[in-house]
Parts: sequence; structure tokens; C-alpha cells
Amino acid sequence: MNIDILLGLQWGDEGKGKIVDALSPVYDVIARFQGGPNAGHSLEFNNVKHVLHLIPSGIFHTDKLNVIGNGVVIDPAVFKKEIEELGPPVSELVKRLIISNKANLILPSHRLLDAAYEKDKGNAKIGSTLKGIGPAYTDKTGRNGLRVGDILRDNFKQIYDTHVKNHLLILKNYDFKYDIKEYESDWFEGIEMLKQFPITNTEYLVNQLSGQGKRILAEGAQGTMLDVDFGSYPFVTSSNTISAGACTGLGISPKLIGDIFGIFKAYCTRVGSGPFPTELLDETGANLRNLGHEFGATTGRPRRCGWLDLPAMKYSIIINGITKLFMTKADVMSGFETINICTAYKIDGKICNELPFNNEAIIEPIYKEFKGWTEDISGFTKFDELPASLKEYIEFIENQTGVPVTMVSVGPDRKETIFRN
Ligand code: GDP
Ligand code: IMO
Ligand code: MG
Repeated sequence: MNIDILLGLQWGDEGKGKIVDALSPVYDVIARFQGGPNAGHSLEFNNVKHVLHLIPSGIFHTDKLNVIGNGVVIDPAVFKKEIEELGPPVSELVKRLIISNKANLILPSHRLLDAAYEKDKGNAKIGSTLKGIGPAYTDKTGRNGLRVGDILRDNFKQIYDTHVKNHLLILKNYDFKYDIKEYESDWFEGIEMLKQFPITNTEYLVNQLSGQGKRILAEGAQGTMLDVDFGSYPFVTSSNTISAGACTGLGISPKLIGDIFGIFKAYCTRVGSGPFPTELLDETGANLRNLGHEFGATTGRPRRCGWLDLPAMKYSIIINGITKLFMTKADVMSGFETINICTAYKIDGKICNELPFNNEAIIEPIYKEFKGWTEDISGFTKFDELPASLKEYIEFIENQTGVPVTMVSVGPDRKETIFRN
């Protein structure tokens, strides 16, 4: 039971990167289990902000091992850029980052397909990050994927060409102009970068380390409400973002899982299309966006903002089996006179506590109003110091969910983290 999981309970961007970095000192291994470069995990220390897409957020701790598991989809071009931007030389990084030979590759033509499908959908588009995620996972489950281990084969280029040829045949059906050549050259440079890192059957390693009593933290990407099975399908990503995804994405048994940390913002955000019951299209929403710097870490798109949605959060807690809650970004709401939490939905005049199957359902959120707080809490280091009205807000969430809030993040820096005893 020495593998813990940290994952998002909302629509992504809950602050996973920051918290994984802050928790890393107590772990030996940090492992990504799903998603790909659609993720943008920000973390901050010594006044410098870093954004990671594929690399686990433990990478800045020199004595930790980071694993990119089999459930992740890797774009080598993004990987190379990210490695180069990290700072330490590759000769150092190869000692602390290891990659599964079973992780699937995102091909340049997957990105083209992603863009063509989105263009074709018009107003019904998903709002994909256009990183090729959907088409890459489609090929994986359709048993047409190329995997990281394949790059070591002598005939890799030949296999690659066959895959791309097939993708370009599909693209012919779409009114979509493209130039694959430029990205392809970055991509092949990325392949050479990948080859410098240990590529192995990481499932053996992770299980071995777990058997030796090493502490492992599985880092989720996206959020539960974007899960391919349980999110607002089809406005979701293409992987299982939930705790079960850590088992399939790393090759570990559920018996080994200890804590499952659910991270949530004190309010809600969503990027891309799809239902968002508590969305605020008014000045309050704009305030949350501006004060919380709510712009995508991967695409720069403005995030849609709204109040905390308890029915959605309770759903996430059940699906994941959350044992502890971590709350981020309460500092953003300092100075708000009042704050709302959605406690139930009204659909067709009926009170409802469950998310509807139908994305077109008109949901009226039922709110409970809370008194805000005026203090700037970003310098606070102890839970007891927090303003009484914030503590009330937290207590209400705990009572409603039955899960304790054991960490409160009060700023983007790794130091701005309050652990509660
Ligand atoms: P992730 O995808 O879950 O890792 O989250 P992102 O990095 O995409 O988005 C979270 C944003 O909020 C980043 O800009 C973080 O630096 C920032 N952040 C994280 N925690 C806090 C917090 O407690 N307070 C504030 N003000 N910002 C935070
Ligand atoms: P992190 O890990 C927020 C959203 C996209 C889109 C949908 C599908 O930083 O929390 P995709 O590119 O996966 O096909 O897009 O999912 N999305 C995210 N939103 N944070 C993310 O990751 C996201 N990754 C994908 O905006 O709505
Ligand atoms: Mg993000």
C-alpha cells in the first residue's frame, strides 16, 4: 500500500503540478500514468515558474526517480523541447527519468487528424488542445499504435511511413490543408532525444520498487470530469483520468494503492467545450479568471470560470475513492464579499443530485451562500491562521463529502502550501 495517487476532481488545472512538486520530498518515485502533452502542469520555486507537459512534476528534485508510464501518449517533439527547457543537462536528466517501452507515440499525422476532426465538427468541436491525443489513443485501442519501444527497431522508419501513409489517406476525406514536413523533422529529432533516456518495461521496475518499500506517487493529468468514461462525453479527453487509470497506466495492482488524493480548486474552471453547470458568464467569472490567472498552461486559452460544484465533486470522489482532499487557489477569492457553492441541480423543475447523461439538459445550480474573507492569505503557513469564514467554507465541504481537507494551497509557489495535521 505504498503507492499513492494524486488526481484532479474537476475539469483539469486544479494545481496538480504544484502539489506533486510540493509533495515530492516524501516520495521516492513520481510517475505519470495517462494523458500526454495536452497536460500543462505548472510549478513554481525560487520565483521561477515551470510548465511541464509530459515529464512528471517530481523532476526538479534531484534524488527522485520519475517515470513516464505505459498509459501516457508521447509526442517526441514536445518531449525534446521540454527536456531542453528544464535546465539541467541531458546527462543529468537521464539518471532521473525513465520511460515505458509500452507508452504509445503521438505521430505528426495524429496532430493533423486531431485538427481535421475538430474543424469538421464546427460548432460541435470538443475544444481539443490539438496535440493529437484523441487520434493517438484511437490507434492504441484500435491496435494500430506505434510504441516507444518500437523506436529501437531497425525498420522503425519504415513502420512509421506505413502509419503516416494510412493517416494521410484518412485525411483525404477532409477539407484540410497541411504541411507535415516541418513538424516531422522536429519529431525525428525528438526520437533521437528519447533514445538517450532509459526505455524499459517500467511495470517491472515500479512493482519492484514498491516491493522494496519505496514510496511512489502517481500523478494524474486532466481531471475526473474529463475522463473518457465518466466525463461529459464526448467533451472529454481520451484516457481514464481516474484512480483506476493509475493501475492500467503503470501496471500496478489496486492492492498496492494507499491514499488517493483528490485535488480541487476552491472554485471551478474548464477549458474547451461541454457542460459547466456553475459557469459564471458575468463580472464575477471575469474576476476569477483575472485574479486566478486562469489561462491554459498548454494552449493559453482563457479558462471558463464558475463556483464550486459539489454534486460534480461528490461524483468524482465516489468514482475515485478519494481518501483526502487538497484545496487550491482559495487565495484567489480573498476580497470576495460572498462566495457560492452549488449544492444541488434543478433540472426540469426537479431537484437533482446527479449529473445528467444528456449534455443538453438545462441545469440550474442551487447555491448556498458563504461570507467571504478580506485577508490576503497567501503568506499564511498554518491552518489555524486561516480566516474563520474560509474555515467554515472548508468545513462545509468536508461535511458534505465526508472526506477531510488535509492540505490548503494559498499560492503558486511550492512553499505556499499548508499541510494540516
Ligand atoms: P494542473 O494542470 O492541475 O497542474 O494546473 P495548472 O498548472 O494548469 O493550473 C494551475 C495554475 O494555478 C497554475 O498557474 C499554478 O501556478 C497556479 N496555482 C496552483 N496552486 C495555486 C494556489 O493555491 N494559488 C494560486 N493563486 N495559484 C495556484
Ligand atoms: P491538465 O493535466 C484542462 C481538455 C481540452 C478539451 C478536452 C479534450 O493540465 O489538467 P484533448 O486535447 O485531450 O483531446 O482535449 O480536454 N483538456 C484539458 N483541460 N487541463 C488539462 O490538462 C487538459 N487536457 C485536456 O481543453 O476540452
Ligand atoms: Mg494544467
